[in-house]
Amino acid sequence: MKITSSLLTPNKSKANALFIGVFSDGKLNTIAKEADQLLNKQITVRIKAKDFSGKTAETLTLFADSGQRIILIGLGDNNKCTLGTIQDATTKAVKAVASTPVKTVSNYIPSLAFMDFDSATVAKISAIAASHAAYRYEVTKNFKKDDKYGLTSMAMYADKKAANNIKQAAAIATGVETTRALGNLPPNICNPDYLAKQARSIAKKYDNCSLTILDEKKMTKLKMNSLLAVGRGSRNESKMIVLKYTGAKKTQKPHVLVGKGITFDTGGISLKPGANMDEMKYDMCGAATVFGTFVAVAEMQLPINLIMIVPAVENMPDGDAYRPGDVVTSYSGKTIEVLNTDAEGRMILCDALTYAQEYKPQVLIDLATLTGACVVALGHVASAVMSKQEQLPQDILNAGIQVNDKAWQLPLWDEYQKQIDTTFADMQNVGGFAGGSITAGCFLSRFCDDVNWAHIDIAGTAWNNKKEGATGRPVAMMVQYLINESVK
Ligand code: BES
Ligand code: MN
Ligand code: ZN
Repeated sequence: MKITSSLLTPNKSKANALFIGVFSDGKLNTIAKEADQLLNKQITVRIKAKDFSGKTAETLTLFADSGQRIILIGLGDNNKCTLGTIQDATTKAVKAVASTPVKTVSNYIPSLAFMDFDSATVAKISAIAASHAAYRYEVTKNFKKDDKYGLTSMAMYADKKAANNIKQAAAIATGVETTRALGNLPPNICNPDYLAKQARSIAKKYDNCSLTILDEKKMTKLKMNSLLAVGRGSRNESKMIVLKYTGAKKTQKPHVLVGKGITFDTGGISLKPGANMDEMKYDMCGAATVFGTFVAVAEMQLPINLIMIVPAVENMPDGDAYRPGDVVTSYSGKTIEVLNTDAEGRMILCDALTYAQEYKPQVLIDLATLTGACVVALGHVASAVMSKQEQLPQDILNAGIQVNDKAWQLPLWDEYQKQIDTTFADMQNVGGFAGGSITAGCFLSRFCDDVNWAHIDIAGTAWNNKKEGATGRPVAMMVQYLINESVK
């Protein structure tokens, strides 16, 4: 869906549908009044008749003489309106036109005067939400020929001041779509080689990009034994994907994002139970998030230098698979005792994080569907941020608040570190039941001593359930973070 900005009022709009927001006080703003004229006062009539009351997420479709659909959207009490309310209302409105012939929309939600938000913020949030709601997975499913689902464009009602926000929203929406598309693909399509090919096509499509791919031969030479151990059970060759974007002077230190790219996680020899194992196709959502973030940044040509690193590996049981009890020497030289082959994310990330530091990053952030414990701790609402730094996690959390893509911090205090000490190596790859997300973060922290690093566990936020699929989170938070960095 193309997202643009426009100042055409309802009179002038040629769109198939118009989104008109109404608060529960029932008062119409100038835009709604104009729409009311087009509807021969049907809005006033319906509100008077209590057919529509402006309650949150209430919608009503009316038809103008022109044949245009006017979608009334309730936003509830202005004093209680949050960014979440705006997201939900926009989602409802898009769903109201989803299985209709509507292709183009004028979205007038940003014309409302909100208590807490300026119209540029509302426009941004609503645009991202609209694109999200308009998405449908289509790759491996046959649709009927007459199923003409899908909006093609949305014009946000926004002035010049908001236009930049709309551009950012459009880039974020493209990024989110990229992430969802990759995340939702089945694991027999989306394997390490497929991810490498996607990186190649991104490098071709956008200016100022370059790509390096390390294959197993190269990684063997470099002694990335921890990553390679995980991939040993798979017929699919492991890859390390390194995609660079140079939007600032070459001398400016890069932001480096590392994404866990386990294209399928069976658990390996420590095999997972069968129920819901299919969901482990989403175990590359950290990778998908950095792909999406990268695309958004390249789309905006942000004035920063960005490097995305994706260790892409499949975790399978096999006669040659790594086993519990194995001790491997990581790329850093530190040794790891494998106590559970299902704690494979940290095994590939540690080598990728060590490698990432060769680029002398000003900021290093990894994103990973790392622990089931994270879902227990924060549910599906917030991503977990962990860091030994003061400022970096705050900056990430604040970016999340700006775009309503929430995160919450968990501590990485030294007291937790002893849970991964062992007699037989420098560390073991599991820390036991207590604080499972934190001890996973502790493991990674041992490879990130002298760098401005944060870890984000997205196990609870990257996908929803079987029906909804990949959410594209936390692309919005990450892109907003980088936008903020670019104007620092
Ligand atoms: N990919 C999983 C984490 C996961 C599980 C995310 C379920 C979302 C839902 C990860 O590789 C894993 O298996 N982690 C183990 C770690 C344990 C063995 C210490 C886990 O969380 O059970
Ligand atoms: Mn696992
Ligand atoms: Zn995993």
